[in-house]
Amino acid sequence: MELKDKIALVTGAGSGLGLATATTFAREGAKVMINDLRAETAQAAAAAIGPEHGAVGGDVSKEADVDAMVKAVLDRFGRIDILINNAGVPDSFVPTVDQSLAHWQRLIDIHLTGTYLVSKKVAPHMIAQGGGAMVNLSSLAGVLGLPVRTAYSAAKAGISMLTRVLGCEWAPHHVRVNAVAPGYILTPLTEALIKDGKLDSDRLRRRTPMGKMGRPEDIAQAMVFLCSDRARYVTGITMPVDGGYCAFGAPSDAFPGDLDAALT
Ligand SMILES: NC(=O)c1ccc[n+]([C@@H]2O[C@H](COP(=O)([O-])OP(=O)(O)OC[C@H]3O[C@@H](n4cnc5c(N)ncnc54)[C@H](O)[C@@H]3O)[C@@H](O)[C@H]2O)c1
Repeated sequence: MELKDKIALVTGAGSGLGLATATTFAREGAKVMINDLRAETAQAAAAAIGPEHGAVGGDVSKEADVDAMVKAVLDRFGRIDILINNAGVPDSFVPTVDQSLAHWQRLIDIHLTGTYLVSKKVAPHMIAQGGGAMVNLSSLAGVLGLPVRTAYSAAKAGISMLTRVLGCEWAPHHVRVNAVAPGYILTPLTEALIKDGKLDSDRLRRRTPMGKMGRPEDIAQAMVFLCSDRARYVTGITMPVDGGYCAFGAPSDAFPGDLDAALT
């Protein structure tokens, strides 16, 4: 029970990494407010986790929605100890010269502006309470250059810098701000990319020293650590959780072994 009685807001928690994180937080004793774009999605996820958890619809890139989201947490639970800025959408994988400005703007709005906006609206409450913990979702795409994933990568790199800036700015108020940079994790988002031929799962497993994609639970466990008192002296970092992907730089396969064996 690493997060006993902590109140957590997890954005985009109707699916994938957010849902796994909310579920794991609940298991660790936290009470969770689940946000997703559609209220029904958030409600279904909250209902699956348990009656002591809440749900709120809303778009993280819209200020009025974010105000309503934060109000819903305070109305229901009276405080907010943990914020997970998880909501996100994949890039289009269209060559940069063929992308529209509207596409770039949408990705930046959801990932980077959304993280900024929710953090800035939650921080005053954490500061008034005497502290809190935030974790943002960066990505290996924010560390390594991935062609055609222009806006997504720029937004994720921006999120890592935002994490450093806010980590330093709010450290005197005992508000810790960290990020995780997942590698390739099997979620509805990546499953759709594999199905559409935009990701080759065998090739990316060969490029991953551990030879396998991560599970949502792997990210959730990193989140528990970063939000718990065990990480009380940790702020402003982006922690890779990627099976060694970003550590690897040799001009060869990172995992030369049997891919099927790596799955066990
Ligand atoms: N899965 C991976 O391999 C991976 C790797 C690196 C980073 N990430 C990041 O992790 C986060 C979660 O990814 P996932 O794979 O679980 O994706 P997912 O598509 O399974 O879940 C994302 C959720 O965010 C919600 N959402 C989208 N836009 C929103 C908005 N404007 N406001 C509120 N909610 C919104 C979606 O409805 C969805 O439920 C994203 O930020 C993603 O970029 C994922």
